[in-house]
Amino acid sequence: MDFELSQDHKVLRDSVREFVEHEVKPIARQIDEEHMIPDALVAKMADLGLLGSYLPEELGGAGMDLLSYILVVEEVSKACASSGVLISAHTSLCCGPILSFGNEEQQRRWLPDLTSGRSIGCFLLTEPDAGSDAGSIKTSYRREGDDFVITGSKIFITNGGYRGTGIVFATSDRSLKHKGISAFIVDLTTPGVEVLRNEEKMGIRGSYTTAFALDQVRVPAANLLGREGEGFKIAMDTLNGGRIGIAAQALGIAEGAFERALAYSKVRKQFGAPICDNQAIQFKLADMHARIEGARLVTYRAAWLKDAGKNYTLDSALSKMLASEAATFVTKEAIQIHGGYGFICDYEVERMYRDAKITEIYEGTNEVQRVVISKLLLADR
Ligand code: CAA
Repeated sequence: MDFELSQDHKVLRDSVREFVEHEVKPIARQIDEEHMIPDALVAKMADLGLLGSYLPEELGGAGMDLLSYILVVEEVSKACASSGVLISAHTSLCCGPILSFGNEEQQRRWLPDLTSGRSIGCFLLTEPDAGSDAGSIKTSYRREGDDFVITGSKIFITNGGYRGTGIVFATSDRSLKHKGISAFIVDLTTPGVEVLRNEEKMGIRGSYTTAFALDQVRVPAANLLGREGEGFKIAMDTLNGGRIGIAAQALGIAEGAFERALAYSKVRKQFGAPICDNQAIQFKLADMHARIEGARLVTYRAAWLKDAGKNYTLDSALSKMLASEAATFVTKEAIQIHGGYGFICDYEVERMYRDAKITEIYEGTNEVQRVVISKLLLADR
């Protein structure tokens, strides 16, 4: 067993860290306040290969492994969770299923535009009445000649505001439950696709969270991903991978807040001494570090399992659950260590606290992660 990152992983991590230091960190507050990530930053991330880390080079990707992608999301999220989830949702939830379930023609048609950042990807599963219960979606499709025609509504779609490429889930017959669901690759500028709104949110404010109406959206039959009726399997498989990306985002947020709290505790003086001389602060730092290290081990191991072609469903749910709960814990404690300064915007930990909360909710609430984990633990009953 080797707990060291490889030399290649270290080089990647250090180069992304440097990029983040110069290009992301200085504008993280602006991204939060203006509720948008500048196009120029998205273009720089694409140029660096951050929008297709684990995709093959012949499809425009960087040809690395999943652990590399996890390191990218973690490093970016240390400074800006909105930029972290842009990369994560785009890569795991849109490029991922096209790579895993798309035929060669679909991969060549869609992936180079995505890896180059010409199109930003998203995943349209959630609906107003189908969140955790993803098998009960109402968005429907029917076959008409050489096309499929999709009608319905989707909400909470990360990256939706870019109107790039979407993986859209729809059912042919609700009585078939999850077996009636199919997945389609959809250009979100197709007539009938309407952006209803980009939500105002508590955190990850630079990230689009979009509501769509889909009115008779005509999609060529060639855009069916996998076979008809395989959509739920594609969604679950995609989310198994995506959840490791959210774990990495949460880990990054926690680390960003911890770094700031640790540094602050050494310079902030009260009662004539740095506050880190107090055991109350020391124990907080120890508890924060413990949560981060536990989450990191489980997250990297989930990525390693996927890279090694082993079953990783349980570990991905575990990583998302542990890392997101570490993020909410650590960011809350980081504010407490900063005292009143933690509550004002200049010190950034308040933004991280707001950003952390969503990691316990999206790509499956932590209650859903516990369902996944416990079902697998009890599978032989
Ligand atoms: N991996 C692989 N297969 C899975 C699976 C998993 N994690 N979970 C369920 N399945 C399979 C089951 O094995 C079963 O397969 P068979 O038909 O072959 O038997 C099938 O799916 C149905 O399983 P269940 O009967 O257990 O399904 P269910 O309807 O009870 O739901 C659930 C199970 C785990 C709760 C699932 O609905 C789920 O994961 N819900 C959460 C959805 C989610 O994460 N949504 C987030 C959307 S993306 C987002 O957040 C926004 C964004 O843009 C970032």
